[in-house]
Formats: sequence, C-alpha cells, structure tokens
Amino acid sequence: MPQASDVLNRVLVLEMVRVTEAAAIAASHLVGRGDEKAADAAAVEAMRKAFDELYMDGTVVIGEGERDEAPMLYIGEKVGGAPGKGPKIDIALDPLEGTTITAKAGPNALAVLAAAEEGCLLNAPDVYMEKIAVGPGYPEGVIDLTKTATENVKSVADAKGVKPEEIIVCVLDRPRHEKMIAELREIGCGVVLIGDGDVAGVIATTNPETTIDIYMGSGGAPEGVLACAALRCVGGQFKGKLLFRNDDERARARKWGIDDLDRIYDLTDLAKGDCIFAATGVTDGSLLSGVKHLKGGKMTTDSVVMRASSRTVRWIKGEHHREPV
Ligand code: FBP
Repeated sequence: MPQASDVLNRVLVLEMVRVTEAAAIAASHLVGRGDEKAADAAAVEAMRKAFDELYMDGTVVIGEGERDEAPMLYIGEKVGGAPGKGPKIDIALDPLEGTTITAKAGPNALAVLAAAEEGCLLNAPDVYMEKIAVGPGYPEGVIDLTKTATENVKSVADAKGVKPEEIIVCVLDRPRHEKMIAELREIGCGVVLIGDGDVAGVIATTNPETTIDIYMGSGGAPEGVLACAALRCVGGQFKGKLLFRNDDERARARKWGIDDLDRIYDLTDLAKGDCIFAATGVTDGSLLSGVKHLKGGKMTTDSVVMRASSRTVRWIKGEHHREPV
C-alpha cells in the first residue's frame, strides 16, 4: 500500500500527459467545424479511454456533470485500469476547456486535468465562481475578494512597484462583467478580454510573457479548481466564492457537502496536498500551442505537466504518427 506522499507517484505524473494528449488530438479534428458538442464528445471519449491505460484507482470528482446528465466522465465515475488495486486518486477534468473556442478555431482551448490524493480537490458544483488571481512573487493577501476591483488593482500595483494604470487585468468578455470592466478602464489599466477559457486566463497571470497581472471575474467553479491545481504547482494566489443563481444551484452545492455557501475559498481550499496539473493545447494559446496536423498523418502536441510537491514543471512536445488508442 503506497504511503500518502507516494500516491501520486512519479510515473503517474508523466502518464497524465498521455491522457490530455489523447483528448486534445481527438478534439483537434473538430477545430473550426462549428460543432461544440461533437468536439467535446470526442475529447471526452478519448480521455476516458486513455485513463484506462493508467495503473490507478481513480474517481472523477469534477467532470462532465452528474451521472444522469453525462454519459462518460461523470462525477463519481471510476476511472483507471486498476480499480481496487492501484493508488486511490481523485481527478478533476475538463477534456475540452473551451468548446466554443474549438468550434470557432479561437485561441486557448485546452484538454486539462488535475489529480490529487483522495479528498484533496474541492467537489465544486457546476455553478459560477467569483474569482481573482495573481501569479507568484506577491505578498500574501495582495488580492482580496471582499475589496473592489479598484482596490485590488491598487494593491497589486503597489506590490509590483508600478502605477495602477500599468496593471493588466484579464477578464472574460461577458455582459455580467460590464460594470467591472468600466471600473477597470476608469482607473486606466489594460483590460484583456477573453472570449472563453478562464483556466488559461488564470494561469496567464503566472507567465510574465503574457503581461497579465491579475485575473478577475466570474466563471465556472470547476474551472476554478483546475486553475488552482496549476497555481499550487507554479505559485500564485487565488480567491474564489461560489455564486448561486437559484435554489437548485444552492441545493446542488449542499449535496456535495458545501454548507457555508458564502465562504471565500483560498488556493489550498480548492486544491490541497500534493497535486498534479496537466494540459495539452487544442488550439494555439498563451500557455500552449495547439495540435498540428502535418503531412503524412503526423501530429504534434504541446503539453505541460506539473506537480505541487516538487514544483517541477515539464513542457512536453509530442510527435504522433497515429491516433492514441
Ligand atoms: P466550456 O469549455 O465548458 O465551454 O467552458 C468555457 C468557459 O469559458 C470557461 O473557461 C469558463 O469558466 C466558463 O466557460 C464561463 O461560463 P460562461 O460562458 O457561462 O460565462
């Protein structure tokens, strides 16, 4: 029986990339084809199959939905080729983060997953989450979800030693963010509007090349957990609060064991202990290049896999001569 610290063994860390590669390649055939559902279904099926090749006793804690709404990779589904024998691992996944992006051949679509020891990833319901994130190198508490957008920008600007108007904020381009965007423009800072894909948006704060300092706004709560797993590996701060639009969503949260519906979550509340984050680009983006289909059936993939306990980040270029099986 492996010790808790060995559960995410080193072999498994690298193997996770096969899983995201398989999903990304499957979805890549549908880039720009205008069919979000087909792209998602292809990624889901490929990811499901790829998990079976791994020696683990995995459980999906964040997946494609609840059992009655998702045929595969639903919450609670067992994945992995060694049920009852392999290491017990919880998985948060999004086989295709950015279904609309893929359908429209836009930037930043990813196949993504996080894996952690049992009980270490928040079973986040599929509701919205108010989020704010910064990359590494800031004093603890530099961002605060109870403060206004202006206060947060000023706090980050002070810590960075620049003027607030030099701060760049990434926001999902949604009508619900209009007020916040207006407030940010009033301060004079740069607002990078993204059409979709806030996992990549949050991670962009950790890469100085993107020039993005802060991620702000509401997006999916499951995507919040995935982004936190990545921040746990590369550093950064995150605060999140679940947003409920109706009693049905509140009931769903309670069903997953969430009693305090107003809680502000920190990074380690969403992803604690040792964890792995793996992603493969489906379309070109700020984090990864997309799948390329070359002459003679060759395909290339661009992936990253990271582990919180060691803080190792591996960038993996793949060359494939046949579809993953
Ligand atoms: P999908 O891949 O499920 O389409 O999610 C894309 C996404 O942009 C997420 O990155 C984000 O968290 C969420 O949708 C935002 O939701 P909405 O589109 O309802 O604003």
